Amino acid sequence: MQENKRKMASHSFVAELVRKAPPFKGAIDPFTCVQAELELVEQNLTRCIRSSEAALTDISSHLIHGGGKRVRPLVTLLAFKLFGGKKLEDIVDIATAMELIHTATLLHDDIIDGADVRRGKESAYKKFGLKATLVTGDFLFIKAFEFAGKFDDTVVQWTADACTRLTEGEMLQGSFNRNLNVTLEDYLEIVRRKTASLFQTGARIGAYLAGAKPALVQQMDEYGMNLGIAFQIIDDVLDVVGHKELLGKPVGIDLRDGNPSLPIILALNGGQKVVAEAFECAHPTTEQIRGAIEAIREGSAIQQAKSLSKSYAERAYKVIKKLPPSLYRNGLKTLVRLIIERDF
Ligand code: IPE
Ligand code: IPE
Ligand code: MG
Ligand code: MG
Repeated sequence: MQENKRKMASHSFVAELVRKAPPFKGAIDPFTCVQAELELVEQNLTRCIRSSEAALTDISSHLIHGGGKRVRPLVTLLAFKLFGGKKLEDIVDIATAMELIHTATLLHDDIIDGADVRRGKESAYKKFGLKATLVTGDFLFIKAFEFAGKFDDTVVQWTADACTRLTEGEMLQGSFNRNLNVTLEDYLEIVRRKTASLFQTGARIGAYLAGAKPALVQQMDEYGMNLGIAFQIIDDVLDVVGHKELLGKPVGIDLRDGNPSLPIILALNGGQKVVAEAFECAHPTTEQIRGAIEAIREGSAIQQAKSLSKSYAERAYKVIKKLPPSLYRNGLKTLVRLIIERDF
């Protein structure tokens, strides 16, 4: 049954989460708020990956049509509509660019992490090989800039900055690989760059293109940044306590790869020796990983990580609460809840 769920379209996925989330006043499925616009993003995505080199199209399609949640275009579109943005051609292309950049980073990230499975299927690098996947990641980055390059200098610069920060985040994370000295501050800096930058930039650009005042553009930046941090913390938590079938990717990968995820860092801070041993070890055995995962589950790291995620979610929520009520404000508010309560 869980496997069937993974195969469902991403939007119904989210509708299900909305139903599951504890009801609160004004809760609304954020995806339905911008369904028509998201549909245009899908059309853009499908169209732009056509290439005379069939492998580029096949590898791109493998991931793009593999059931991603489309959270980054969602944030971009909602921010635009929130500030009264009307002309679809002003926003759909940049929302597409955000998803293309994200997809490109996933292709590269799975190579870096040696991940076999993504979105419930064999990862691209496993299925099509490292070289072709690497080039397809570059192909998608270029496609993203074909869309982003149509906008003014400010938007192009912000998009380029987000890409720069993504690459810096991956490099920074690499420098703390299997490194017991990694701190919570290091972690937050990694996450701000590798994950939150796209949420932040999408929200900021959405508000800017709708004509919002600079102070409000800045507030949306803050919303996106905090939402992105909360999002990555939950991704890390799910790597320890999630279900493979729902996630569409296996658990325990961060520990296996020596990636400094938040639960690992908190377990290290809590003096959990088995976690330190597995994290530090160049080739931890399956047994070692299982033991360390169990130790993390039994300790307080998951609870602590969830409460940190909640505190970032609250910061995002606070920004939105100050804005005038609207359908889109409710969508952005609900999204904060969905992100911290998600199990995929
Ligand atoms: C996965 O992002 C990578 C992270 C930044 C944690 P998503 O969880 O948004 O992946 P898809 O697009 O839904 O597959
Ligand atoms: C997010 O980190 C990576 C990117 C920003 C591309 P992860 O390595 O945790 O993402 P998953 O868990 O593989 O989806
Ligand atoms: Mg990864
Ligand atoms: Mg992860």
